[in-house]
Amino acid sequence: MLRLEGVSVSIAGAPVLRAVQLAVPAGGRVALIGRNGAGKTTTFRTLMGLLEPDAGRVLLDGQDATAIPAHHRARLGIGYAPEERRLFGSFTVEANMLLPAEVLKLPRAEINRRLEQVYTLLPELKTLAPRKAAGLSGGQGKMVALGRALMVGTRAVLLDEPFQGLAPALALRYADALKRLKDALPDVAILISESNPELLIPLVEQSFIIERGEIGVA
Ligand SMILES: Nc1ncnc2c1ncn2[C@@H]1O[C@H](COP(=O)(O)OP(=O)(O)OP(=O)(O)O)[C@@H](O)[C@H]1O
Ligand SMILES: [Mg+2]
Repeated sequence: MLRLEGVSVSIAGAPVLRAVQLAVPAGGRVALIGRNGAGKTTTFRTLMGLLEPDAGRVLLDGQDATAIPAHHRARLGIGYAPEERRLFGSFTVEANMLLPAEVLKLPRAEINRRLEQVYTLLPELKTLAPRKAAGLSGGQGKMVALGRALMVGTRAVLLDEPFQGLAPALALRYADALKRLKDALPDVAILISESNPELLIPLVEQSFIIERGEIGVA
């Protein structure tokens, strides 16, 4: 359902992605593995419409979406948990999770339905719900970013290095949450990036390796 077709992207005039080919099928679980600076975040930002390709196309359900702006992609059911989380510290956890759905002006009943679904999938978020985001640990913040991405990502969620910086116990809980997600929401596609492939192997069906902005298939 998500595809990059020969996508090249430059940042500040320097080529970062080179003719990237990548596909995430509907309901598929796909990993994007690469070292620091390989181009993982750039790939996610391009999929979300936050960076414009110099060449190539971004396809959503086979349609050319290269020119669709980022906020419209969220409306198409694509949730994004960026590497650096970007939570509003003075807002509660619940308010942070509600925000993108409210920005999309989803009906209140639908927002509540999705929130309950997220709490069922990730019960620790229910406990954290009233806390201010500023007081969270890095790992808790990653969970909130996953919950927030699920609030709008009815078709796909893009998780940029969700395991980075997680203590081992929390990384295991996060991996469990992803497994539950697979069972509970089989139609939602997931693209996860990581520098260490070991963590993701049990969770995905397919891996792409990115090196210096170029893709190879594992
Ligand atoms: N704002 C920017 N200005 C200049 N160069 C950038 C910028 N953002 C990224 N780059 C360069 O683009 C390349 C890819 O960066 P990107 O952030 O996509 O890598 P990454 O795989 O996500 O790395 P990390 O594992 O460190 O998050 C790097 O060489 C980086 O230096
Ligand atoms: Mg990155």
